[in-house]
Amino acid sequence: MLGHHLRGKRILLIVSGGIAAYKSLDLVRRLRERNAAVRCVMTQSAEEFVTPLSLQALSEDKVYRALFSLTDESEMGHINLSRQADLVVIAPATANILAKMAGGIADDLATTLLLATDKDVLAAPAMNVRMWNHAATQANLATLKSRGVRFIGPNEGDMACGEYGPGRMAEPLEVVAAIEAYFGTDAPLAGRRALVTSGPTYEAIDPVRFIGNRSSGKQGHALAAALASAGAETTLVSGPTAEPAPAGVSVVRIESARQMLEACQAALPVDIAICAAAVADWRVASEAPQKLKKQEGGAPPSLSFAENPDILATLSHLNEGRPRLVIGFAAETENVVENAVAKRARKGCDWMLANDVSAGTGAFGGDANTMHLITPDGVEDWPRLTKRQIADRLAAQIAAHFRSLPA
Ligand code: CTP
Repeated sequence: MLGHHLRGKRILLIVSGGIAAYKSLDLVRRLRERNAAVRCVMTQSAEEFVTPLSLQALSEDKVYRALFSLTDESEMGHINLSRQADLVVIAPATANILAKMAGGIADDLATTLLLATDKDVLAAPAMNVRMWNHAATQANLATLKSRGVRFIGPNEGDMACGEYGPGRMAEPLEVVAAIEAYFGTDAPLAGRRALVTSGPTYEAIDPVRFIGNRSSGKQGHALAAALASAGAETTLVSGPTAEPAPAGVSVVRIESARQMLEACQAALPVDIAICAAAVADWRVASEAPQKLKKQEGGAPPSLSFAENPDILATLSHLNEGRPRLVIGFAAETENVVENAVAKRARKGCDWMLANDVSAGTGAFGGDANTMHLITPDGVEDWPRLTKRQIADRLAAQIAAHFRSLPA
């Protein structure tokens, strides 16, 4: 796939001054590998972190620096820099440059260019978690989003400053995926909307305890990533997992099955719905408002359960606004295909991906799986594939299905 997607695309990359600026070097390399043309503009503080020479060598182009240079301005003014780009990318985008953009400040080449450009802008924010969470930054983000600026990341994790939380710049390959998704108008699922559920649900017993399951969310997250890179506008509704948010996907984090259903309903209408979450079938009937306490010599509490909504069945049976293609998963330990065929009929979904999760298959929490795709046309046995390969194969089949439908 390398060298294919971004051939001939012209990226104007603005590097602002944060510790994550080192990632911009790898980003340039990845974009060049895909045959994109990359032209870099650096802010003055970016030069504290990476050198213009490194960016110049990797981009194989002149690097435009913070302060106005008369020669640059006459040879290639900010208007021309923007005119000659297909997309403006800011990576890393510091709190400062976002604030200047939101406020319309133009006090160096990068910000002047951002104020003057009529091209779409994709920003990869990177900053300390407190700066990210600050009301000023959040207000600036809301302003910029309302003006159509696109964002990728930040990710959550350990930060260079020793803190933990959202603020890490998206990885270079995630930024590349977002750029590819931006240009993916000829992608097979462009113009389609998709919804994916992923991960476990947590059902509260009291404010500190819950009932959950061991679902890792790997398959659901891989599906959302595959649909997004095939061009679908994708919403991922996910229970608590350690999986990072896939690039170019809107992630809605929930805990309980009822919250998951609500988030799915809010994401409608969609063309495609894939239920990959391991939803708890039951919740505790009455969640205790206070932490349950041990009673001296008392009996352990007994819990009674209420049935949770079935999200897959609910989406499959919608009278109005039913997704055109609803896909479920069946985790079975015996008579895999037979049980999954019956489950498809019971839930009312269109396709069902069935797999054997008996002990020793490594399906649960593992990276690979052997699937059977059940459709109205029959059963297809797939070879053992990684979860990402399963996701790509399903996305390709979904695209083929939509191509075969009457317009
Ligand atoms: N599902 C759902 N909402 C629920 C339960 C399940 O959306 N409350 C979806 C899952 O995301 C999956 C499919 O339904 O797509 C699995 O169905 P389920 O009946 O839970 O099957 P298994 O988990 O395989 O368990 P069982 O065989 O006990 O029915």
